[in-house]
Formats: sequence, C-alpha cells, structure tokens
Amino acid sequence: MSSREKHLEEIHNRRCSLEEECEEALAGKSGIVLEIGCGHGHFLTAYAQTHPEQFCVGIDLISRRIRLANDKRTKRYLNNLLFLKAEGVEMLDAMPSAVRLEGVFVIFPDPWPKKRHHRRRLMQVEYLNKLAHRTVAGGKLYFRTDSPDYFQWTVEKLIQHPDWDLTEELNWPFATTTYFQQLMESFYSLAACKITADPSM
Ligand SMILES: C[S@@+](CC[C@H](N)C(=O)[O-])C[C@H]1O[C@@H](n2cnc3c(N)ncnc32)[C@H](O)[C@@H]1O
Repeated sequence: MSSREKHLEEIHNRRCSLEEECEEALAGKSGIVLEIGCGHGHFLTAYAQTHPEQFCVGIDLISRRIRLANDKRTKRYLNNLLFLKAEGVEMLDAMPSAVRLEGVFVIFPDPWPKKRHHRRRLMQVEYLNKLAHRTVAGGKLYFRTDSPDYFQWTVEKLIQHPDWDLTEELNWPFATTTYFQQLMESFYSLAACKITADPSM
C-alpha cells in the first residue's frame, strides 16, 4: 500500500469511528449544544452543569485536551456532557442525519492572523452554511475571540449570510472564564440566530 493510500485509509477509518461515536451518543437526542475547539473543557463543563436539560458535546483536535475535559465530566458525574476528539467539519458530517443543534459555541478559535492563512480560519462561509443546515430554526451561534480582525471577519460573514441573523439583542448566555480567556486582556463576543425558514416559500 502506498503512503497516500495509507493516509486515505486512516482518514476513512477516523471518519467511520467518529460516525459510530456520534450515532451512539446523539441519535434521537434533542437540545444538543456543540462547542467547537473546546480545549480543556472548562466552559462546557460549567455550562452543562447548569443546563441539565441540554446535551452538550465538546470537540477538539488535541487528544490530551479531550482526555482532560472528559476527566472533568467524570469527576462531576455529568451525564449530559461528552467530549470527543474530532475536527469541526468532520464532526458536522459525522453526526446522524436527523441530528440538529440548539446551540453552537466557538470560543477563542485559532485566529490565523496572517492574511495568507485566513483560509484556515474556521468561520468560513462554507462552514456557516454547514452549521446553519445542522442548527434548528431559532438556534444560536456564539462566537468569542481576542482578535479584532477575526471578530470583524466573522461579523461580515454573518451579516451577508442568508441563514444567520446577527443580533445585538442576544447576550452571551453563560459567564465562565475559559483557559484562553484568562490569558487575554480583552476579547469580543457576538451571537447570531439561525433564521426561521419562511413557511410561505
Ligand atoms: C485557542 S484554543 C481555545 C480553547 C478553548 N476554547 C478556550 O477558550 O480555552 C483553540 C482550540 O481549538 C482547537 N481547534 C482548532 N481548530 C479546530 C478544528 N478545526 N476543529 C476542532 N478543534 C479545533 C485547538 O486544538 C485548540 O484546542
């Protein structure tokens, strides 16, 4: 097997096992909240503790962070919380087709400050499309960053997006300091609402 074939097989296997994990954890569930790039899980653990009516899933690329996050969940006996090692796009693709999100948190995502790296940012139009498809009408997207440039970038993408309503009326729903937040002098937050489909269309 060539190294390219081996690489493709690894991707395939990773996606299949994520699909299985998602099926087991999410099939038939409602009130799902997803945090993308959850790091050590500080935010979502505290959030899940105070929102027992919701089912919270945090994902991150780094295994050690997911392990530490799941330790927090175990210590607190939280059965409405789960952390998975997964990438943001792959996670949305792997969830059972009927699953819809009630809330999405993206808190201090990697800002990729250099212009030539902007295409690596998570908040791309294509990703906002995918998120909108996976979010219930009226569901919320919460975004927080320390980068004024990334904040403005996301504001512009949301203003232009037909499925998201960027609203100043929505407050950040839950106050707790994340690991990265404590390192930052200042930060910017926004909330957007998934637009309800017009039944006449
Ligand atoms: C700057 S840290 C912020 C962590 C946490 N939200 C906090 O505030 O402490 C960004 C995190 O996003 C994760 N990450 C980056 N790109 C990702 C992606 N495409 N999918 C999932 N996680 C990602 C990184 O591994 C990292 O843990």
